[in-house]
Amino acid sequence: MTTTVHTRVAIVGAGPAGLLLAQLLRGAGIDSIVVDSRSRDEIEQTIRAGILEEGTVEALVAAGVDTHAHQVGMRHDGIELRFDGAGHRIDFADLVGRGVWLYPQHLVLQDLLATLVPAGADIRFETTAVRVDDVDGERPRVVVTGPDGAESEIAAEIVIGADGSHSVVRRAMSGSRAGLYREYPFAWFGILCEAPPSAPELIYSNSPNGFALISQRSDTVQRMYFQCDPDVDPASYTQEQLWEILQSRVPGTTLHEGPIFQRDMLQFRSFVARELRRGRVVLVGDAAHTVPPTGAKGMNLAIADVLLLHGALRAFLLENDPRLLDGYEQTALHRIWKAQNFSWWMTSMLHQMPEASDFDRMRQLGELRSVTDSRAGRTYLAEAYTGWPLELGG
Ligand code: PHB
Repeated sequence: MTTTVHTRVAIVGAGPAGLLLAQLLRGAGIDSIVVDSRSRDEIEQTIRAGILEEGTVEALVAAGVDTHAHQVGMRHDGIELRFDGAGHRIDFADLVGRGVWLYPQHLVLQDLLATLVPAGADIRFETTAVRVDDVDGERPRVVVTGPDGAESEIAAEIVIGADGSHSVVRRAMSGSRAGLYREYPFAWFGILCEAPPSAPELIYSNSPNGFALISQRSDTVQRMYFQCDPDVDPASYTQEQLWEILQSRVPGTTLHEGPIFQRDMLQFRSFVARELRRGRVVLVGDAAHTVPPTGAKGMNLAIADVLLLHGALRAFLLENDPRLLDGYEQTALHRIWKAQNFSWWMTSMLHQMPEASDFDRMRQLGELRSVTDSRAGRTYLAEAYTGWPLELGG
């Protein structure tokens, strides 16, 4: 006999999207159960994205999340685009009157869990969603295995797939008809090092040797990335080699070097699921879409999905009004495809394609100049990077 527990909303995935949705539903008096295959420790410690749009931070605060973004995070009012040996500042504050916060995703997750767990939210760690049964029914069920390996199921009025790019919920919904995607012939090699910041703001650098991003974490820890072959083994470089590569990718600037204590690889992919909703099963965040990290949109897009969906779920579950839920996919896709375009554009403008000709490289510099030389060009970048206003449908 399989044990079945009942809840109003079953959320698969305790990432930023799943946890924020649980918090918003709790505020509306709607019960949910969140499951995640990882331990709390793993969720809270894994290094991921770093940039929050101002609107994302405001949404966390408005949702009652006890966030430290304003205290611990660093506000950035611009970025530097670097190419052809010179830096060009994109001044967000002047162009669009908004900025972003550098506040790493694992701290957002710590804030969410520190708010939800003491409040008694039902979050089940080390609990793996195996499949979703009765996807087309009135009461779909998430079949899970717990930390002890025992199988049970969660029956809900709504099932949410917030379970990342390898989503089990998406597979249950759409099978192998996953979605639309494109691959890229490169990846990012990421490092964390102990050093002071090399620049006041992030540097996105197009160099003849390939792209580099000089980001930050604190006054003493820095995050940097460089474009590399996707098959590279991160352990195969010495620290000296890594610094040599990084320095060569930001000509005109000297980086402050220090001990590198973590290295990782970020694979590049753009993806949008074919369906974001089927009956009572809905996808949010990376389960619904993946963007390459160049536009810093990933976590922000996940939060935007949830803000939209939360209103739709309130109307559906509390007032029996399905209209917003029926419009969720179309409204969410407007923002998702704008973010896909921006992330693809930043990626294509800043990276070197392995087969690029001299013509391609000179055209790319022309494209970068069209952006930095023109207020309209800089404004498009600033609007997209700091985040478009939320469209709430209806
Ligand atoms: C980061 O700091 O991890 C980061 C910042 C900006 C990006 C991607 C990653 O576009």
